Amino acid sequence: MLVLHAMSETKNQQVTVLGAGTMGHGIAQVCAQAGYRVVMRDINDAAIARGMEGVGTSLDRIVQKGKMDAATRAAVLSSIRTTTDLVDAVKDADVVIEAIPERMELKLETFRVLDASTKADALLGTNTSSLSISDIGSAVRDPSRVIGLHFFNPVPVMELVEIVRGEKTSNATVERSRGFATSLGKKSILVRDVPGFATSRLGVALGAEAIRMLEDGVASAPDIDLAMELGYRHPMGPLKLTDFVGLDVRLAILEHLTREIGPQFTPPELLRKMVAEGKLGRKSGEGFYKY
Ligand code: 3HC
Repeated sequence: MLVLHAMSETKNQQVTVLGAGTMGHGIAQVCAQAGYRVVMRDINDAAIARGMEGVGTSLDRIVQKGKMDAATRAAVLSSIRTTTDLVDAVKDADVVIEAIPERMELKLETFRVLDASTKADALLGTNTSSLSISDIGSAVRDPSRVIGLHFFNPVPVMELVEIVRGEKTSNATVERSRGFATSLGKKSILVRDVPGFATSRLGVALGAEAIRMLEDGVASAPDIDLAMELGYRHPMGPLKLTDFVGLDVRLAILEHLTREIGPQFTPPELLRKMVAEGKLGRKSGEGFYKY
């Protein structure tokens, strides 16, 4: 894992991350580690406090592994400014990364504010895992600067940024995004703006099939997971991973892909039932496993 990258190129640039949730605070952290000035915005102080706590815990792990010293940890933390004021957060940003909940009307409302309040040349990224970049881009007058920058959980560890090109995204924005991903120490792939892109479409297909296998009594949850962990060397089996990502998140992606692509993505009944019961995975204390 790289810890500090390309400091001199990035220290004068501001990255604003909208949302301090699991993805938002992870993205803020890696941007701060790369030397950017970071602003992290959420709608209330409690959400911001949880996000900063998440950054602190993750940095502690890196320090404990001897990959970062205490002074650097403090410097990374202090380079993240937090605010609940959206306009204040974005007005000086060179790069904005939106990581708010996956609801199109919320994204459109936010991008309308970005249109009115950001510098004309700010890059506008969205961390959406399956919504259309072109649709999100329709909220701004210059959609050539809107692009998908899809990160993976845990962001400090996962090496990929999936770059998603909307219909009107410019080549310059794609190139800038590739450079930005590299500056974070990440590798990038370029994907067309299709529902679920590459990663979510393949990821939920495997996850949904594993849940159907559990419904059909093919094997126990731990054995289905071990099948992929030992048989295919996946770091986590598909049910453990669904717990990790959140059952509600995966259900929303499957519903979206069913509407946009077809019935092969119909969510398993067991998944719907567990979400209705509040079994959302790690974050709620129970999913396919108890935490
Ligand atoms: N911050 C910093 N470091 C962390 C960390 C965090 N939050 N979580 C784990 N690490 C580090 C550990 O300290 C350890 O470091 P080391 O290599 O120096 O020893 C390394 O990562 C591995 O962690 P662990 O030894 O604790 O445990 P594992 O080897 O089991 O790895 C895992 C944990 C990295 C989560 C691994 O199980 C994994 O890769 N799982 C799959 C994750 C995945 O598929 N994510 C994608 C989800 S889909 C998504 O995010 C898209 C979204 O749109 C839905």
